[in-house]
Amino acid sequence: MNLEEIREERQKWMTWKNIAPLREVLNTLAPIETKCTFGDTIKIQGLEELPSTQEVIIKEVAKLMMPWRKGPFDIFGLFIDTEWQSFLKYNLLEPYFNLKNKRVADIGCNNGYYMFRMLEHSPKKIVGFDPSALCKCQFDFINHYVKSDIKFELLGVEHLPFYEEKFDTVFCLGVLYHRPDPIGTLKALAKGMECGAELFLDTFMIDGDEDLCLSPEKTYSKIPNIYFVPTVKALKNWCGRAGFIDIEVLEITVTTEDEQRSTPWIQGQSLGSFLDPNDPSKTVEGYPAPKRVYIKAIRK
Ligand SMILES: C[S@@+](CC[C@H](N)C(=O)[O-])C[C@H]1O[C@@H](n2cnc3c(N)ncnc32)[C@H](O)[C@@H]1O
Repeated sequence: MNLEEIREERQKWMTWKNIAPLREVLNTLAPIETKCTFGDTIKIQGLEELPSTQEVIIKEVAKLMMPWRKGPFDIFGLFIDTEWQSFLKYNLLEPYFNLKNKRVADIGCNNGYYMFRMLEHSPKKIVGFDPSALCKCQFDFINHYVKSDIKFELLGVEHLPFYEEKFDTVFCLGVLYHRPDPIGTLKALAKGMECGAELFLDTFMIDGDEDLCLSPEKTYSKIPNIYFVPTVKALKNWCGRAGFIDIEVLEITVTTEDEQRSTPWIQGQSLGSFLDPNDPSKTVEGYPAPKRVYIKAIRK
């Protein structure tokens, strides 16, 4: 299949979630000597001039893999302006961790943006877990040029207890609210960690001093798979019951359109259309607008 045919077929595969043709195109990427920098934008530059055929292929392949949620990336001058400015979350957390010689897991790693940034910390190893085949394609595309030894497992958080090794530092960012069983999810994380290991987690939260949580009727901020949105106190209870101690709130933030917005690389709606146009402190469903809590906890 040539690129033109693949482009025409793309819509169909996305509906079927068939990534086989995408894997085929990924196999046509030529090996290229690169220099990579892992700043707010992950930047890949060629050490020699890129053949024009590869330039066309790279652009097409990147477009075929839309939507691009996490980033941004600059690949040989092609700027992938992702929906999320993921450096805001990464830079907020980075002062709280030191990954040198650690075995690190990023659960719900998406296309691996944070993992690429973590390379600068010289961890012993990094393993990403995400069951999304499209995310793995995006990761493989970037890593084809980065050539890191980061491992990407097409597994979910629920598989962590059965994984072949335990981790010293685990990130679970933006995943907990997608799980219908948040305490079970935290227990799965704990089982994948060494005693004394560190967990960094963020989730949507609601204000309040009581141990309560919001359980959206159908959607929250137009997102269908959001199940529980706790107060900080309820979240701490969940962590305690799952086997974590020393639960520390690192930051609380309100998501703004600086962080999440629609771009040509997602071809869809984003935060701006998820809030009540007359009252941005509320979602379109009338719930409190998205606010996140970042915590650090230690595996007992
Ligand atoms: C909201 S995104 C968060 C991405 C990234 N961790 C961040 O904070 O920016 C949720 C991610 O969780 C992944 N995911 C879905 N089901 C999962 C599961 N069972 N276990 C782990 N991750 C999952 C999705 O594919 C997606 O990449």
